Order: sequence, then structure tokens, then C-alpha cells
Amino acid sequence: MASTVIKNWDNKTWLSSHDYIKKFNNFLLRQNKLNSNSRILDIGCGRGKIIGNLSSKLRLINKPIGIDLINHRDKDKRINFKKISAYTFFSLNKKKFDLILIKQTIHLLQFSKIKTLLTKMSNSLNPHGKILILTLNPQKNEFPSFDLMKIRLLKSLKRDKKILTFISKLYPKRILKKFVYKVQITKKKYNNMISKRFISTILGFNDKQIATGIKQIDSKFKKKLKFSDELVCIIIRNN
Ligand SMILES: C[S@@+](CC[C@H](N)C(=O)[O-])C[C@H]1O[C@@H](n2cnc3c(N)ncnc32)[C@H](O)[C@@H]1O
Repeated sequence: MASTVIKNWDNKTWLSSHDYIKKFNNFLLRQNKLNSNSRILDIGCGRGKIIGNLSSKLRLINKPIGIDLINHRDKDKRINFKKISAYTFFSLNKKKFDLILIKQTIHLLQFSKIKTLLTKMSNSLNPHGKILILTLNPQKNEFPSFDLMKIRLLKSLKRDKKILTFISKLYPKRILKKFVYKVQITKKKYNNMISKRFISTILGFNDKQIATGIKQIDSKFKKKLKFSDELVCIIIRNN
């Protein structure tokens, strides 16, 4: 059955693995001066494992806030979760943050609303606060794909590139970084992720399209998959 919501992105995948979260949070900490007093917001937090781990690592006094459209039963307990859309959150928010994280979510937002949302995010930063926007590197994507997935992925990456250019024009002083994670996964596990439609580009595929895709991956790739999961990170500072 085709679905319209992302439920399985961080559902026991490499994206929720201890190793990935550890490396990602080390990357985050290299970009931000954070301490136990820091206030953190994650937009489109999924199960909230990233900021949950960050909370333990920094011994945060204030639980980090994670917002998402989906309230997962197995979400991280160390976060203050709010089931709310980014648009509604910022129309109500009066809090200030040291870090606003928006990881692999900006591509799901309406293009026409991104500018207003970014302005509201900037206005919600503490004096030395930063916004970190991470999205798949549109120049280089190594995700093992079947034909139809590749077509959709390329289309989506083209849009991502437009979003990145748009943000760069809005914030010419933005800093660009990359986060690269070396994925090693069995084809069986990866196909299981595909069957659960882990990525937005395959969300709308019907069961037959998914089954055909899995067959293609089976014949195209070896038992063990090795590839880079590469993200572009835009850093916007408040000053
Ligand atoms: C690809 S997942 C990324 C999850 C997490 N940030 C990570 O990188 O592991 C995108 C998430 O954004 C959420 N999302 C999509 N549109 C949203 C919106 N308008 N407001 C808040 N969350 C949204 C989805 O429900 C989903 O959990």
C-alpha cells in the first residue's frame, strides 16, 4: 500500500545506529559551541534519537525540543517532543535557541514558505546561535537505487539544489560544510528499508513498483552494499 508519511526513515536503519548518531553529533559539536545550558530545537526530528543522544552527551539542563508531524511510539525519552508542523510551531514560538537543527526535512517543506520560515528561525536564535540545515548532497548521491527510484531521486535532488541556491542567495554569509557517512549494509537489510519506503522519493510507489525495485536491486548489487551517505550542511549564524 502506498503511504504519504515518512515513518521508517530512522526505524532501525543506519540513520538511527549508534555509530551514525555518534559521528553525526561529533560533527554537530564541531560546528557549534554548545554546553549544558544550550537550548536546542530539532525540526522534523523523527524519533528524536540525534538530539536525545546530544542531550546526554552535553548533560543538557533543558530538554531539547523536537518537533515532527508524526508522534512515534518509540521516540527518544530524553527530548521534549511536540507533534506540530514547523509552520505552526514558529507562528506560536517565543523561545530562543542556540541551535536550530533541520536535518533532511527542508526538502519536504513548501518552497514558497521556506523564506518566511527561515526568517522566523533566525529571529528565534540567541545572539551566538546557529541554524544548521542538512540535506542530501545534490551533486553526489550514491544510494543504491532501482530505475524508477533513480528517476525520482534525481528529480528530488534537482529541487534540493534549487533550495540550496535559494538559501545561499538569502544568506550570502552562510557557511557550507559536508557530513559524509560510510554506510556498510547487507543488501537484505537495505531491501527491507526499501520495502518500508524509508525515503520520501519512494513513498508514493505502489507495492508492485516496490517489489520490482527490490528485484532490480537484488540482481544489480552484491550481498554487501558499501556507499557514502553525503549531506550538505548550510550554517546560518545570527551575527
Ligand atoms: C527524512 S525524515 C528526517 C528525520 C530526522 N531529522 C533525521 O534526519 O533522522 C523527515 C522528517 O520530517 C518530518 N516533517 C515533514 N514535514 C514537516 C513539517 N512541516 N513540520 C515538521 N516536521 C515535518 C517528517 O514527518 C519526518 O519525520
